Amino acid sequence: MKITIFGTGYVGLVTGACLADVGHEVLCMDVDPGKIEKLRNGIIPIYEPGLESIVTHNVSAGRLLFTTDTAEAVNHAEVQFIAVGTPPDEDGSADLQYVTAVARSIGEHMTGYKVVIDKSTVPVGTGDKVRGAVRSELDKRGMELEFDVVSNPEFLKEGAAVADFMKPDRIVVGTESKRAEDVLREIYYPFNRNHDRMIFMDLRSAELTKYAANAMLATKISFMNEIANLAERLGADIEHVRRGIGSDPRIGYHFIYPGCGYGGSCFPKDVTALTRTARDCDYEAKLLTAVEHVNMAQKHVLFDKVSHYFRGELEGKTIALWGLAFKPNTDDMREASSRRLMESLWKVGAKVQAFDPEAMEETQRIYDNEPGLQLCGTKEQALKGADALVICTEWKEFRSPDFASIAQTLSHPAIFDGRNLYAPEMVERHGLVYYAIGRGKNQ
Ligand code: UGA
Repeated sequence: MKITIFGTGYVGLVTGACLADVGHEVLCMDVDPGKIEKLRNGIIPIYEPGLESIVTHNVSAGRLLFTTDTAEAVNHAEVQFIAVGTPPDEDGSADLQYVTAVARSIGEHMTGYKVVIDKSTVPVGTGDKVRGAVRSELDKRGMELEFDVVSNPEFLKEGAAVADFMKPDRIVVGTESKRAEDVLREIYYPFNRNHDRMIFMDLRSAELTKYAANAMLATKISFMNEIANLAERLGADIEHVRRGIGSDPRIGYHFIYPGCGYGGSCFPKDVTALTRTARDCDYEAKLLTAVEHVNMAQKHVLFDKVSHYFRGELEGKTIALWGLAFKPNTDDMREASSRRLMESLWKVGAKVQAFDPEAMEETQRIYDNEPGLQLCGTKEQALKGADALVICTEWKEFRSPDFASIAQTLSHPAIFDGRNLYAPEMVERHGLVYYAIGRGKNQ
């Protein structure tokens, strides 16, 4: 099938590359000529395992094309995916200007039936706005062409996006049109052969499903972080509690890891946007507001522990920091807990020596000229001359470090672990003091 995708960001590019990989003829459109030129040459702007090879492979096979020409993009296919960004407005609601601009372009250039599929995360009711934008452009042209608007939210995890796309656990489609349903079935047939993973519903329910999924996951994390904070105060160990409750299949082991707060481009933005949507329809989303507040406070927990350990005297101290990205296997620093920690440390006059396997360039870009930051080539270098070690991201290579050498290198033998990577006795055996999240009395 021929498919057009507007937006070559994270979602658009992964979607385009994966659809091309199963044989569709995909044209990706972006307004940024520099980005399009790079993509044509197989240069990927983001770090995502497996993405580069499928982009290069499908570009050379001629199935994955890139353009900056809107008219060409609209004319390429009956199927038009919208995967442009919806950054948060100042008040936290999603900014829809890019989505509606694409919808207008489609209305402006279309000459026959189109299925307009919204893949961007958009507030409930956006489908109607997209429909309105296409229709008003058609009206201007005095044309009465048929089209359907469909919501098809993505559930890709950064760092596993290609695998998530190729083996989805569900494909949610919101449409009331049988014609559009058939088109969507055909697009996704290669991913849906073994058993039916497609869930059809009305457009608004599909739009809400996306927010509900992320809000539920964020709720699980904030819930665990709250129990972890309680565990610390009660002298209990959250890691035992986690296993104890996860064994109940109604609760499950997934996504109940306490830590130094959730980050990324999705959870913080989507929880805020849903709270905002609720307010717009005169409903106060009390639980979601609490989820947000718990998370904001949780991003402060590591700093509080470090500050308490040094009795508030952090000026002139050097903190080694392992892990900058908001989670492993990505270079994404958006809403990363490491940022809140570093900024708090700098404010009180401490220095940070940081290492991350992938996010160093991105950190450099964000904190260019920050005198309190030194980026180090290895995790060992970050320790040299440092007073204590903090861990913000659970990269694999941090899982089994040389504790004896850490103890020797640090001038204060303390590890502050925001991801509960180690067994306390394993760390303490080397004379290190171990602070983690929600683990016992001495935290
Ligand atoms: C999230 C969802 O998991 C995807 O299903 C969704 O498609 C995506 O948002 C999106 O809306 O586009 P992502 O933001 O890539 O994906 O990251 P997650 O793996 O969900 O992690 C989010 C944050 O939660 C990270 O900071 C992670 O460290 C934290 N987390 C996760 C915990 O603190 N504890 C956990 O048990 C799990």
